[in-house]
Amino acid sequence: MEKKTYGFDYTKTELNYVSYYRDGSWDDGVLEEDDMIRISKMSTGLHYGQQAFEGMKAYRRADGRVQLFRPYDNARRFIMSCERSMMPAVPVEKFIEAITRTVRANIDFVPPHESKATLYIRPYIIGIGHNIGLKPSSEYLFGVVVLPVGTYFGPASKPVDFIVTEYDRAAPNGVGHVKVGGNYSASLYPQYHAKQKGYKDCIFLDPKTHTKIEEVGAANFFAVTKDGTYITPKSPSILKSITNDSLMYIARNMLKIKVEQTDIHIDQLDHLSEAGACGTAAIITPVGTITRNEERIVLPYHDTMGPVTQKLYDNLIGIQFGDIEDPNDWIVIL
Ligand code: PLP
Ligand code: COI
Repeated sequence: MEKKTYGFDYTKTELNYVSYYRDGSWDDGVLEEDDMIRISKMSTGLHYGQQAFEGMKAYRRADGRVQLFRPYDNARRFIMSCERSMMPAVPVEKFIEAITRTVRANIDFVPPHESKATLYIRPYIIGIGHNIGLKPSSEYLFGVVVLPVGTYFGPASKPVDFIVTEYDRAAPNGVGHVKVGGNYSASLYPQYHAKQKGYKDCIFLDPKTHTKIEEVGAANFFAVTKDGTYITPKSPSILKSITNDSLMYIARNMLKIKVEQTDIHIDQLDHLSEAGACGTAAIITPVGTITRNEERIVLPYHDTMGPVTQKLYDNLIGIQFGDIEDPNDWIVIL
């Protein structure tokens, strides 16, 4: 039988979840077939960007059961995003219930274990209702859509080429640390230019000094130094990636290598041996070259995934798919 391949495109699944916030409280939420919504043309989510979202996945284990990876961390980050955008926080229990109901309702869409594809879960919240002034709405829609996906940046075995952009996705004291749509629309223009020049995506620098690597539009950045240390930027304006946090744990506790959250100066990359982008969608995508203006840094591992990145990748997806024992209460089996 021909093997099904999975990309990162929209597929309509059976049911999605919606819940409304009105008069100061959330309703119980329902599952529905319709993947369209009817909202006020004056919704704050449409005009003032009052919205936030999450990205997580459900994984098919070898025994056929389905599991989630660190869903409570997504729930907590969603609360941070809601609070920063003056939206009512979705309680952790409601978030988890919405996710599990939606995944269970679409369980046949979770790709088979051996495909290494997953069911992507997209929780979102938007300000709705008839509004005009710049103030928080009094009505919100919280929803969850799920769809089967493969890799985001292409095969993990092939390192990608990134270019540094001089545009910013976030401001120094802005909203870069939360998962709100404005950060993503701000990254589209520099991403377009990167792709036009033949790069897979662009790397953003810290918005204050433009001297240090920050992250990619849809993933965190990490590197492995020539002396074998896992390094990743420390900055108040990058999204706190659950994948990156997991990789730091794996590096420190399972691979017994040193981990440092530190500045990675863009003009001092000679000490790097491997680099990668990491995130729910990106998983781990090795980075082979980094270009800034006319200068191209070719990392020692630019043809294939480097050995440390490979170990990190094998352990991460091993845990996520249930082939390696859960080291830290990360897994919720449905
Ligand atoms: N950084 C940005 C800007 C992202 O959009 C994502 C994706 O969610 C990440 C980092 C990685 O975060 P996580 O590992 O929690 O998916
Ligand atoms: C994720 O990794 O879940 C993301 O949110 C990235 C997305 C912009 C594709």
